[in-house]
Amino acid sequence: MKNLKIGDLTVSIPIVQGGMGVGISMANLASAVANEGGVGVISAAGTGMFQKGRRKDFLEANLTSLIEEIRKAKENTKGVLGVNIMVAMTGFADTVKAVIKEGIDIIFAGAGLPLDLPRYLEKNSKTKLIPIISSARAAKIITQKWLKNYHYLPDGFVIEGPKAGGHLGFKIDQIEEERFQLETILPETIDILKPFEEENQKRIPLIVAGGIYDGEDIHKFLSLGADAVQMATRFVATHECDASEAFKQVYLDAKEEDIRLITSPVGLPGRAIHNAYLNAVDLGKKHPFSCPFDCIITCKKEEAPYCISLALYNAKLGKMSHGFAFAGTNAHRVSKIVSVKELINELIEGYKQKAFKHALS
Ligand SMILES: Cc1cc2nc3c(=O)[nH]c(=O)nc-3n(C[C@H](O)[C@H](O)[C@H](O)COP(=O)(O)O)c2cc1C
Repeated sequence: MKNLKIGDLTVSIPIVQGGMGVGISMANLASAVANEGGVGVISAAGTGMFQKGRRKDFLEANLTSLIEEIRKAKENTKGVLGVNIMVAMTGFADTVKAVIKEGIDIIFAGAGLPLDLPRYLEKNSKTKLIPIISSARAAKIITQKWLKNYHYLPDGFVIEGPKAGGHLGFKIDQIEEERFQLETILPETIDILKPFEEENQKRIPLIVAGGIYDGEDIHKFLSLGADAVQMATRFVATHECDASEAFKQVYLDAKEEDIRLITSPVGLPGRAIHNAYLNAVDLGKKHPFSCPFDCIITCKKEEAPYCISLALYNAKLGKMSHGFAFAGTNAHRVSKIVSVKELINELIEGYKQKAFKHALS
């Protein structure tokens, strides 16, 4: 596998561990992935929920915990670390500023178009800015805006397709359509960015995400022109993942038919492992709640049958009757918990075998 170059930053293996909220990818998982040569990513979503006194000043609690996690991860690795920040998150700007101040290597910004992200860069900061998008059009809009307003070309893009876990950047009826699959969006994005790369003499690496499960999948997408892959579901089933054992067990027990689309209170579809909690939501047995955190700008609080942050927080802690697990389409294929080292070795081996077969054919 060739390494991933993001400007002056070199990642030895082209695997990014996708950010997972709430509390699923924190310092432990991120540093383990970075130690194996990939990019380890801490999710900024709801980090403050694990702090005492969180309800008094939720934003403050979030920032304090996030900074603690970044520092912990940095103590454990010299590898490449990122933070995933949702654009729709309350306090987006303050979070971005704090993370840049901590000297994080990469910010991944999704769940909305991060149109003003370069504004927060400080003069000598080395932080790379990588938006998460779900269409070539979004890549073009962001690139044009950043160039016009900040003379800054994105340091890369994560293209997240409809097979991903968590919130999805598609309408429900687009999810199965061929023109919205990664295999279509990736070449479209390569084409749309080519003139910008040529004009500015800078490569914009593309990282693809959603449903990538093994070394063969990695080989497929690198052959299609991606520079790297982002994977999340596989990293849940590792010893180092920051979720509770009960959360990981949900992955081990999941059958294909349990992995379903939901309509999240934040106004986006999401993919999750169906359970009794989501069943009660479907049956209208969950009822409007008071909003404890005001965490997502787009959340339809008045209509929401439940608080998504609380449901994900409960799930992380293993209280599955009060929440649910987000997961990608392939979660049912997970059959055991392994170490991050074992997983990465398996992926590299699978990639090599596929590359060898490919070379022979
Ligand atoms: C449990 C879980 C939580 C996630 N949380 C977030 C999140 O907070 N922000 C985000 O941008 N993506 C989130 N994602 C999406 C992943 O970062 C990743 O892009 C996607 O799941 C990749 O597909 P895969 O799971 O099939 O590998 C989450 C995914 C999972 C499985």
